[in-house]
Amino acid sequence: MAHLFNRNILLGVSGGIAAYKSAELVRQLRERGAWVRVIMTRGAREFITPLTLQALSGNPVHTELLDATAEQGMGHIELARWADLLLIAPATADLIARLSAGRADDLLTTVALATPAPVLLAPAMNQQMWRDAATTANVATLRARGAVLVGPAAGEQACGDVGPGRMEEPPVIAEAAARLFASGVLDGKRVVITAGPTREALDPVRYLSNHSSGKMGYALARAAAEAGARTTLVSGPVDLQAPDRVHTLPVTSAQQMLQQCLALARECDIFIACAAVADYRPAQIQQRKIKKGAQQTSLQLVRNPDILATVANLENSPFCVGFAAETNDLLAYARDKMQRKNLDMIVANDVSDPAVGFGSDDNEVTVLWRGGEAALARAGKNTIARQIVELIARCSAADH
Ligand code: CTP
Repeated sequence: MAHLFNRNILLGVSGGIAAYKSAELVRQLRERGAWVRVIMTRGAREFITPLTLQALSGNPVHTELLDATAEQGMGHIELARWADLLLIAPATADLIARLSAGRADDLLTTVALATPAPVLLAPAMNQQMWRDAATTANVATLRARGAVLVGPAAGEQACGDVGPGRMEEPPVIAEAAARLFASGVLDGKRVVITAGPTREALDPVRYLSNHSSGKMGYALARAAAEAGARTTLVSGPVDLQAPDRVHTLPVTSAQQMLQQCLALARECDIFIACAAVADYRPAQIQQRKIKKGAQQTSLQLVRNPDILATVANLENSPFCVGFAAETNDLLAYARDKMQRKNLDMIVANDVSDPAVGFGSDDNEVTVLWRGGEAALARAGKNTIARQIVELIARCSAADH
């Protein structure tokens, strides 16, 4: 359990049924050592009384923007400066819309504009409202401005619907808040990660690609960001949401991925190549759609650049980590690949087992580096990613 010792947490409560859980959240935050002050919107006060949150936080609850007595004590600017974190739980669809529009029409939205502190949102709303395109766009805007989201969870809702939109439970929110402050093993390091497949165009409507889901690379990006690294993800086309606190750059082909990586490589400490880069691309991209004709045809392919080997062989190269997917002789091939490409570390996985690897949520890998190796037992890709990040932190610190 990560602590919040001596952190000033400004808790914003907006008007949703989940507001009743805010009482427990205040208790959880205090238990972890935080100082808590609460701002309630008018809507929130319909669901829970300020008195409850005052008693639990040990401080008067702030409700009005234009309140002469409040401005003499702790007005909106003082509150905004006081906060180490602005945590809004529940964050209703309306509040998210007002924040995204940059409104300052009540105390909470005004403080959100006025504070330099990071903002953590725990959304809570009906599943259809959460899925609505307007909410999706508002959330994307807030994320792009640096807000971090915890939840919403999926399940049965107060209104009887089932789906995503339920506010996360207070312990999960408190943990997410604490993690924002956690000084991780990659604090201050700059990490670049490639993920997903590449697509190699044949003509305007067709391409060559592979089944990589990008899940492992995205899990690594999340783990690196959680560990305190400034993380950039260079991602081929995947069906995954860009992780919080990660700068995500979408690319399509291997050549585009190489260009992005070369532009970033000189400015990074650690380079992790998790992408399933197409080894070949069509020798020519036809400008017009290829029409069918003969019963047989053939394609001429040319080798794509090896992105990882290119970065690993730069002068002053970053600490380079590769992946080796093999069906047999796993460790021998992986070791050979590590040497051939001049890598500092390689993560080997056996793709003959359908329960791990491409598309699945689990993985089981052996990590090899110059001075040793570690077998990571089968686990979810997020867990494996955290363990790999720990190993990278340890080995790169010893190496460089
Ligand atoms: N890689 C890369 N650029 C390429 C090909 C691979 O950056 N053009 C990286 C992958 O991201 C991965 C590692 O290199 O980290 C995989 O090496 P590779 O030699 O392609 O291994 P396999 O895909 O297993 O291919 P093969 O066994 O055919 O050599």
